[in-house]
Amino acid sequence: MKKITSDLEKRIKDLKKKRKAIILAHNYQLPEVQDVADFCGDSLELSRIASQTDAKVIVFCGVHFMAETASILCPDKKIIMPDINAGCPMARMITAQDLRKLKQKHPKAIVVGYVNTSAQVKAELDICCTSTNAVEVVSKIKEKEIIFVPDKYLADYVSKKTGKRLISWNGFCPTHLKIIPEDILKKKQFHPQAEVIAHPECLPAVIALADAVLSTSKMCQFAKTTQAKEIIVGTEVGLIYRLKKDNLDKEFYPASESAVCPNMKRINQEKILWALEELKDEVRVSEEIRRKAKKAIDRMLQII
Ligand code: 13P
Ligand code: SF4
Repeated sequence: MKKITSDLEKRIKDLKKKRKAIILAHNYQLPEVQDVADFCGDSLELSRIASQTDAKVIVFCGVHFMAETASILCPDKKIIMPDINAGCPMARMITAQDLRKLKQKHPKAIVVGYVNTSAQVKAELDICCTSTNAVEVVSKIKEKEIIFVPDKYLADYVSKKTGKRLISWNGFCPTHLKIIPEDILKKKQFHPQAEVIAHPECLPAVIALADAVLSTSKMCQFAKTTQAKEIIVGTEVGLIYRLKKDNLDKEFYPASESAVCPNMKRINQEKILWALEELKDEVRVSEEIRRKAKKAIDRMLQII
């Protein structure tokens, strides 16, 4: 069935063309945002698209560190956020000063940082990673000592998968922590045939119950290829919209209805239109920080 385009959607489309802009949306964004986006994706995909597009303006519908990453990769483009207050609490759990102190304690360590960090923290890293490639990035490191920040649960998962000991930080995603093992077991009782997928930011006890541990876009790929007709989804609930849209013959159940990231829900179509009208709020990283942070992101993009 063809979707009817609203007046607001038409105005966004016209203005986007006039501004030579593209709209990038993270997979957790509201359905109305995903509907007007040129691309929906996970952190890795969105950074890649940002680095390759020839658009003059990128309207970033996600959280602040994602827009900063786009600014680091394309300083000649205008990166705007429809709601500048959409931050990631996990990214705020470590500062550049915290990381410098940790590095002083382990001067020989290689420093790996999850993309969910501020640009200042990225400037202190040796290499960046996302949930798609964290295991691969760490497995390729030869050095014995490895610092991994800020997510302690992602660090735990990567450590188990690679067999390497990681020096981790006490960071976590408050949204993924809302999913508890009992939620999965309960859903499994109602849907015994369903497969379980979980994001690596989840608690280790949740991950232990999953058939596959995946980033959000890898979850989309998994849903398309699996033989299962029912899937229990252990991540932020916003992903369910895309999963259902792409797989009309399958059923998706959120592991927990409480796994909602409030920051991801701050953006709507009105705010996108205003952002395009006024070309703000702009996210720009200072040149000194940008150059340092870019090295860590480039290293990641080169090895995967
Ligand atoms: P993905 O890169 O898997 O989309 O994850 C980003 C994120 O913030 C998860 O909470
Ligand atoms: Fe940050 Fe968690 Fe929200 Fe992702 S879901 S943006 S990690 S708070």
